Amino acid sequence: MDARTIIAGLRDGRGLSAAGAAWFARGLASGEVEDAQAGAFAMAVLLRGLDEAGRIALTTAMRDSGQVLDWDLPGPVIDKHSTGGVGDCTSLVLAPALAACGAYVPMISGRGLGHTGGTLDRMEAIPGYRTDPDRATLDRALREAGCAIVGASADLAPADRRLYAIRDISATVESIDLITASILSKKLAEGIEALVLDVKCGSGAFMADIASARALAQALVSAANGAGCHTVALITDMDSPLAPSAGNALELRDSVAVLAGQGPERLRRLTCALGGEALALAGLAADAGAGAARIAASLADGRAAERFARMVAALGGPADLIERLDAHLPPAPERRTVTLPPGRIVQAIDTRTLGEIAVHLGAGRLRQGDVIDHRTGLTGLPHVGVEAGPITIHARNAEEAATAETALRAAIRLSPGPVAAGPLVLERITA
Ligand code: URA
Repeated sequence: MDARTIIAGLRDGRGLSAAGAAWFARGLASGEVEDAQAGAFAMAVLLRGLDEAGRIALTTAMRDSGQVLDWDLPGPVIDKHSTGGVGDCTSLVLAPALAACGAYVPMISGRGLGHTGGTLDRMEAIPGYRTDPDRATLDRALREAGCAIVGASADLAPADRRLYAIRDISATVESIDLITASILSKKLAEGIEALVLDVKCGSGAFMADIASARALAQALVSAANGAGCHTVALITDMDSPLAPSAGNALELRDSVAVLAGQGPERLRRLTCALGGEALALAGLAADAGAGAARIAASLADGRAAERFARMVAALGGPADLIERLDAHLPPAPERRTVTLPPGRIVQAIDTRTLGEIAVHLGAGRLRQGDVIDHRTGLTGLPHVGVEAGPITIHARNAEEAATAETALRAAIRLSPGPVAAGPLVLERITA
């Protein structure tokens, strides 16, 4: 086996065998595959595509290119993945809620990508919280809290780390086959038995239209199930921000509010829908509806909040985070309120622009290595179909706040008459 033969097979439409995928993934991890070969491989996959067997082969090969975690826990080990959006802080609520319902959730998460926020960045708004614990600390957190939101260690799916960096500079990020193998290799290396996927669709998502969101969801679900992990995907609305905020400490506040049994309704509803699917897949609920009711109960009675507090303390954060949120999350120095014309209904939102505004305020990275300002972002964001209330810009200085206001006003279109809001869950993909 050699790289040239594998690439030529893809180029000429002969597909990717399990042995070829395993060889290539090992070569990516070890360095035997050169950068030029990895780039050619990615382009051949993008142009010729993989069939289902090829996608499963690449996914499992990339999963096995590093350590696959192994747990000895008294309940099912499960997780959720979102393809990313604006105000999508569901993971912060869902992981402890699933834990409160008897699952174990080693949630290995990523940072913000482009205009979307990242779960790790949100968790790092908590002073002292470690997203890179050693294995003993991770094990202890998982055992004590039932969930641990952390980053990937260097030996988790190393083939993906290498291929992802090469895709980024070779115009091959967009391949659904490569996205599928990339996302799933990392998730499946967590050693999970069930996975719920949240495939975002709309103006703030990477998949802006339903056809491409459906194609990605189907590829993910079939590859994950083919690799032996019980998986369902929900395609969900990203034509509006999910939570009414964008920015790390600000979304953390929304998450804590939902954990405390209140908070934004759309965030709570989606947490219940995704959690219901996950509990059903794991055998902890009879069906998704019963699972959603269990998740809702764990939010209403404080059990999910208690799991979140345990996880934060086990990973180095303050034991009284929930009780003393204001003491631990300082405000941004500059706050500016934007009022939109009263009596109008939100007709459309350029949600990607809202995410980009938050990034430019310091909530995300414009260049690799930029340091995030966890205090900054937007709150009071509306969704389509409602009258917008005041929106607050949380900025580092007055100049950045003024720039954000101009962009914010241009991103929201208002209607004088009623506007029907679309559903939050657009489709459910099971095969
Ligand atoms: N997230 C990933 O981890 N990989 C991709 O290719 C796209 C999104």
